[in-house]
Amino acid sequence: MTETALDPVTQAVIDSFAPASRHDPYPAYAVLRAAGPLVPGPLGTRIVTRYAECDAVLADPAWSHAEEPDLLHPDSDVELPGSFLWMEPPDHTRVRGLVSAAFTPRRIEAMRPHAERIVDGLLSAALAEGETDLIESLAYPLPLTMVCDLLGVPAAAHADVRRMSAGIARGLDLDALLSPDELAARTTAVHDFTAFFGDLVAQRRADPRDDLITALARAGADGETMSPQELLGTLLILVVAGHETTVNLIGNGLLALLHRPDQLDLLRRNPDLALPAVDEVLRYDPPVHFTTRTAHAELTIAGTTFAPGEAVIVLMGSANRDPDAFANPAALDITRYAARPRPRRHLAFGLGLHYCIGAALARLEMQTVLQAVAARVTSIELLVDRPPYRPNLVVRGMSALPVRLRGASA
Ligand code: HEM
Repeated sequence: MTETALDPVTQAVIDSFAPASRHDPYPAYAVLRAAGPLVPGPLGTRIVTRYAECDAVLADPAWSHAEEPDLLHPDSDVELPGSFLWMEPPDHTRVRGLVSAAFTPRRIEAMRPHAERIVDGLLSAALAEGETDLIESLAYPLPLTMVCDLLGVPAAAHADVRRMSAGIARGLDLDALLSPDELAARTTAVHDFTAFFGDLVAQRRADPRDDLITALARAGADGETMSPQELLGTLLILVVAGHETTVNLIGNGLLALLHRPDQLDLLRRNPDLALPAVDEVLRYDPPVHFTTRTAHAELTIAGTTFAPGEAVIVLMGSANRDPDAFANPAALDITRYAARPRPRRHLAFGLGLHYCIGAALARLEMQTVLQAVAARVTSIELLVDRPPYRPNLVVRGMSALPVRLRGASA
């Protein structure tokens, strides 16, 4: 039997989403961008490959996100509680407004000393170990602890929340990519999550505290401002998006610096670069590479008309490496976002209606990690040629980052 080679663009579409490319999908993205601003994608979609068009789609509210669960989870036997991530105005405006009111920049900034204490403790333990898996010792526990503390989840339940959240995060991928075990694990995780947070909401209503669950439960108490189902959906998206993504920001950022010791040295000499470095890592190797949108009216992108109901995959991971948007896009340059005039914003947090509500928290956590690593770690060495990646597509990142660390352990 002779095998026929696929045409390069079809091959690049396959490679963009294939587990074997998880560590480096960027060469495939370059082929897609070169082929045009739109290329045929899976599930009858078209993939938006370049920065200008990704930016335009995300900014246009006529491109809806509400259909994504039906697109990716047609076989789901369990309702993922309806999060505002998948709502449209006016419901999206109402629920997001209630969350934003409780999720203020002041509340986030007030968590900085807490983040610094957590990072200090985790880094001391990792330095004392010497050889450590940075995903387990630093990247996972920081965002998990932060989001649980923000919400008011008791410390004893953090490990359970991590387990449920991992099952749900894997389940965000297209159903067809999930094994029967993973589909079953998602169902269990959603049921466990609903039961656990349902109880916690009831407890906070009876015994209010100064935490986000109490604030959200109060907003949902009359059932008119937020239904019980919307409240659970909100908690689910805050927990899952609130740490599964940031784990990978921390992991991807540390890996990028391991590959570029000159940039780590620059950070050590200029700790003020920690915040611009966070944005550069978000551009260079973001945790979320794509989202989907469905046309709610007849819409045109780059001369192609979409009928209502037609869907696109917005490939932010590719947009962030578009040479028409960023100078030298394949290079990690931690001074990029310190430059004036500012370079283009990256699309790692999305844009428009659904712009990430946790961006400030994620930045704060990663900035804290970079400052502590720059101040305390004198040498860091990767112990494998290529770290393993989790199979996850929607929330992409490593399963382990084994390193040898040296530095001040206390
Ligand atoms: C590095 C970390 C993070 C990344 C890369 C990230 C990425 C994103 C992206 C790309 C979107 C938009 C999705 C779309 O338009 O389809 C989004 C939305 C969202 N994110 Fe994040 N996120 C991060 C951290 C967080 C954190 C820490 C939280 C909460 C504690 C959070 C909560 C949310 C929520 C609730 C939405 C939905 C907003 C809406 O629909 O109005 N995220 N995030």
